[in-house]
Amino acid sequence: MLKEKRAADIEKVLAKYPPERKRSAVMPLLYIAQEEYGYCSDEAIREVAEIIGCDPTEVKSIVGFYTMFYEQPVGRYVIDVCDDLPCALRGAGQFVTYCEKKLGIRAGQTTPDGKFTLNTVMCIAACDRAPVAQVNREYRYDLTEESFDRMLDELSRS
Ligand code: FES
Repeated sequence: MLKEKRAADIEKVLAKYPPERKRSAVMPLLYIAQEEYGYCSDEAIREVAEIIGCDPTEVKSIVGFYTMFYEQPVGRYVIDVCDDLPCALRGAGQFVTYCEKKLGIRAGQTTPDGKFTLNTVMCIAACDRAPVAQVNREYRYDLTEESFDRMLDELSRS
C-alpha cells in the first residue's frame, strides 16, 4: 500500500495543506504514486483517492487530463515531443515521424525492450526552441534528427 510504502513522503505533502483542503494535494500525491508504481494504475488512483477523501473517478479524471501522468506502464525513458501548432510550424510533425521510424514504434507506444516511450504532447512552453521534447521531464531543445540519434545513443548506454 502506498500509505505504508511512502508514509513519510505522503505526510510531508499533506502537511502543506489544511486538513479540510487535503484534496488539493492530489497532484503531488499522484507524482508519489507514479514514482512508486511507474504509472497511475487503478489501484494507485484508488489509494490516492482514499488518502484525500474523494471519489476515485475524480482522481482518474486528473490523471487522464495531464500528460505527465501515465495511465499505462511506460518505458524507462518517456520522450514527450510537442507537436502543437507553433512547434508544428517549425517541423515538429516531420520530427515525430522521424522519431517513430527511428524507434520502430508509433507515438503513444513503448519499444519492445521497455526502454523508450514516445508521446506527442500539447505546448510545453518552449515554442521558440522547437522541435522540443521532454525526456523524463528534462527539456531537450532545438532537436534535429542527428541530435535525436545522439540522445538515443546516450540514453541507451545509461
Ligand atoms: S507549441 Fe510546442 S512548446 Fe509551445
